[in-house]
Amino acid sequence: ATHAPVVEKDCTSITPPYEKLLGKLERVRELLNHRPLTLAEKILYSHLTDPEKSLAGGGKIRGDAYLQLNPQRVAMQDASAQMALLQFMSAGLPRCAVPTSIHCDHLIQAADGAASDLERSIISNQEVFDFLESAARKYGIEFWKPGSGIIHQIVLENYAAPGMLMLGTDSHTPNAGGLGLLAIGVGGADAVDAMTGTPWELKAPQVVGIHLTGELDGWATPKDIILYLTGKLTVRGGTGRILEYFGPGVHTQSCTGLATVANMGAEVGATTSTFPYTANMRAYLHATGRGPVARAADEAAAKGYLSADEGCDYDKVIEINLSKLEPMINGPFTPDLATPLSKFGSFVQERGWKDEVSACLIGSCTNSSYEDMTRVAEVAEQARAAGLKTQVPFLCTPGSEQIRATMERDGVTTSLQDVGAMVLANACGPCIGQWKRDDAKGKENAILTSFNRNFKSRNDGNSYTMNFLASPTIVTAMAFSGKLSFNPTTDSITLPNGEPFKFSSPRGQDLPSNGFSLGNQSYYPSPIPEPQPETEVIIKSDSQRLELLEPFSSHFGPQNPRGLELPALKVLMRVRGKCTTDHISAAGPWLKYKGHLTNISENTLITAVNDEGGDINVAFDHDRGAMETASDTIPTIAKRLKSRNQPWALIADENYGEGSAREHAALQPRFYGCAMIVARSFARIHETNLKKQGVLPLWFVDTADYSRIGSGDTIETIGVATLLGGDANAAIKLRVLKRSGEAIEIPVKHTMSADQLNWFRTGSALNYIRSQMA
Ligand code: F3S
Repeated sequence: ATHAPVVEKDCTSITPPYEKLLGKLERVRELLNHRPLTLAEKILYSHLTDPEKSLAGGGKIRGDAYLQLNPQRVAMQDASAQMALLQFMSAGLPRCAVPTSIHCDHLIQAADGAASDLERSIISNQEVFDFLESAARKYGIEFWKPGSGIIHQIVLENYAAPGMLMLGTDSHTPNAGGLGLLAIGVGGADAVDAMTGTPWELKAPQVVGIHLTGELDGWATPKDIILYLTGKLTVRGGTGRILEYFGPGVHTQSCTGLATVANMGAEVGATTSTFPYTANMRAYLHATGRGPVARAADEAAAKGYLSADEGCDYDKVIEINLSKLEPMINGPFTPDLATPLSKFGSFVQERGWKDEVSACLIGSCTNSSYEDMTRVAEVAEQARAAGLKTQVPFLCTPGSEQIRATMERDGVTTSLQDVGAMVLANACGPCIGQWKRDDAKGKENAILTSFNRNFKSRNDGNSYTMNFLASPTIVTAMAFSGKLSFNPTTDSITLPNGEPFKFSSPRGQDLPSNGFSLGNQSYYPSPIPEPQPETEVIIKSDSQRLELLEPFSSHFGPQNPRGLELPALKVLMRVRGKCTTDHISAAGPWLKYKGHLTNISENTLITAVNDEGGDINVAFDHDRGAMETASDTIPTIAKRLKSRNQPWALIADENYGEGSAREHAALQPRFYGCAMIVARSFARIHETNLKKQGVLPLWFVDTADYSRIGSGDTIETIGVATLLGGDANAAIKLRVLKRSGEAIEIPVKHTMSADQLNWFRTGSALNYIRSQMA
């Protein structure tokens, strides 16, 4: 297609420093004896703070080495940005070290349509938006206000560039990988590393090669590539791995189609997904006003930066022949339950589900590109010409103001509305459960969405809602039939006149012939705004949702008579079995307190099991005056210890803190006075988060020692002073004074690096950063 000329933006701040990256890559190649590299390795290693340090020895790196990296950009959504910003503020820096953006998308609730939903949600979340906006102004962060769009769509349209490394405080950050970069989802504390210019650490992921051959045909779309792959890999198959696509099939996909594939790499737990630079990426950059980025990328590609080396070695290769791929429907309740469309009718029958669809939803960060929307408009047009209307509620979430305005200008919105669609605000809405859906409460029903996640209750809070994932075109066609078993590629719908109507496969258009319409200009922030240090960050004194963070004090201040050993610690409890970040800091209704550490701490460990008694949310206060042992909730006892200035320790089982990067799970115990956690083993990300907040994680040398320490015991460390004195191999022991009066010694081990010891000594990573700035 020919495209209208586009006004080019000033791309200075968004063009990767390719020359510098290529220079670093040269050093990396020498260190690795010029072995051929995957694309993912090239991008990662060219962002190393110090290649010599990270790649020393040149031996096995992937899956083994810890990389210290300098990401180029950070993006944050409105829910996770709150704690990230509060932490950043407590570092005391005047501005962010890298370009950073905030996107108000998660807090917008869908109910009656874009305009009124936006207005209502802004009022009910006003104080959070005011806080985010004022912090953005103070620190020079680009602020995308409510209604501007969904974080990942805006990043793809404005900030993503081939070959860059960026972080985002949202698990679907990898969406930007559609432009051939590495975009990684992290917790707020990790984002703060990049925002403060501190190297960000990542265990070098393995690289899985996905070889795409053939061409998609008929109703199959890029969404079906990832739905199929999710079925193959399962929800854990990508953990600790980057998915790197290659082969001729990559080049036949649009850039936005690749973004859909990258987006849902999160569903298999992948660190991120990426693709070699393609002509369609170049076209997308030009169409979105980023010609300068495209030209710079062309040059970098010519020097071999933006694709894998010939003969590179993948940890595993998966073959997908696109010509054989048919549309998929995944779910319910897990994205890896993948069923080809042709078998879905019998699958519904076998399971004995009612053959009814109750709502169809399209759009979201996963599937609201111009290509997706023109494809669904074609389905809608075919149906309208036949006199059909949608049979069930049909909701559409545009990913950004640019998409919304272009859809409107090009008649796409009218095509959808003519058949009964409701267009929602440019925000997450039903994808994140922000859907005021009253008609299905408590009822078993089935919905189809073009979103990415389908865990129980995710969309409407109703655990009886079966949620199926499919491409936008399949979801749209299903809305006209209202039947779960309908296969639009083969089945007909009977028209009122008795005639059968059958859809033909829709095509769509990847980029608008008349260019993108930017829509409402007030949604666009000025690029890289200068910080306004005089701005006061708005937090109401009586706010229940936001609270400034007080820096944690060092364990080694004058109050500690034991010098560089930890002060004597009381054991709060011994946690039994699985204790995920959800057990430590529950989600659900607590999410509204994400920016208020005091309030959210009331949920600390409330679903953890106390090994002494087997109860949930029960701890004991053995020292409560002269009274007998008193049992109470875990947060209550922890708070009581804090009020007595009594630091405490926790004893934990295997893989403590698994599940997510949620930094609240480390912040909250620390806030209540936790100084040390001794576990049989730790989940790696959580262990790092504990270190960041100044909590010492220790591992039992003999895991049987776990049961030798109980609540109310007093622990003194032996050897921590030697460790802090610079001896990384210091033997560490715990001297445990049992409540019975018996004293025992238990050997433990640590995983603290030199940097992490600095965090521990000063009380937190942020304290250390602050001390370095002073
Ligand atoms: Fe928002 Fe859903 Fe995407 S919550 S960021 S639209 S996955």
